[in-house]
Amino acid sequence: MRFLDNKVVLITGTAGGLGRVAALTFAREGAKVVGSDINVEANNETVELVRSAGGEMTGIAPIDLTDHEQVKKLVEEAAQAYGGLDVVYNNAAIQKFGPMPDFSIEDWRRTIAGELDIPFFVSKYAWPHLVKRGGGVIINVASISGIIAGDVPPMVGHAAAKGGVISMTRQLALEGARHGIRAVAISPGPFLTPASDRDLGDNQEARDAVTKKTLLKRFGQPEELVELAAFLASDRAAYITGVNYAVDGGATAW
Ligand SMILES: NC(=O)c1ccc[n+]([C@@H]2O[C@H](COP(=O)([O-])OP(=O)(O)OC[C@H]3O[C@@H](n4cnc5c(N)ncnc54)[C@H](O)[C@@H]3O)[C@@H](O)[C@H]2O)c1
Repeated sequence: MRFLDNKVVLITGTAGGLGRVAALTFAREGAKVVGSDINVEANNETVELVRSAGGEMTGIAPIDLTDHEQVKKLVEEAAQAYGGLDVVYNNAAIQKFGPMPDFSIEDWRRTIAGELDIPFFVSKYAWPHLVKRGGGVIINVASISGIIAGDVPPMVGHAAAKGGVISMTRQLALEGARHGIRAVAISPGPFLTPASDRDLGDNQEARDAVTKKTLLKRFGQPEELVELAAFLASDRAAYITGVNYAVDGGATAW
């Protein structure tokens, strides 16, 4: 028996670094995965990777997850794909960075929409499907920037949004408990994904500043995050709800 046999899991942002590895890991553990992204080509690649590894996955793309009408449609299609929904893995996000006081109103709003609207919209529309199943799990990918301040790069919008994701998770856990819904946040520290690799470019000083804050003095590998997510999504984690786990090489320990 694998961790996630017979579970239907909706994962957002499956074209990206952590989302792609989440799709592969959840499918390896027996889940039927529905993965969505705005990026069709890279999302299709993930579907192919999962299938060629022997897993089950349906891709639904393009979906702009900041548009709640599109999210509503996505969730209905996702629930139809395998006859229901058991787990929502809110991974997708898009954000802007910039220092105070120059961080523009537009970038603030884009960041709140890209990091806080998305998991709210997906959770809102998935909720009745989880209730219908007699319960389920919502896992929200937050960030250590929701726990501690960070200056590489300056991140006022990101910090506010990810702090909001952590608070929202506690509230979802409280309101979900009576329906058998668990809600858990996981907060990555610095992970090397195609996105962060691209953002940091060849700026070795910025890379060193980011990893210096960890106790382990290195970036995390996507697998080191999503193995926890797969466990939290499973019935083995049945007593875990309303909590936020930092997976950060010790960055928030000092
Ligand atoms: N990589 C890190 O170091 C790190 C650190 C802390 C938190 N996180 C969080 O982990 C999650 C995944 O990050 P990642 O590094 O894999 O990023 P990524 O950019 O590689 O992946 C994000 C995915 O979300 C998709 N997406 C973005 N906006 C979308 C929209 N409006 N509609 C549909 N899809 C959209 C992107 O196309 C992309 O495939 C995010 O929530 C991020 O904030 C990452």
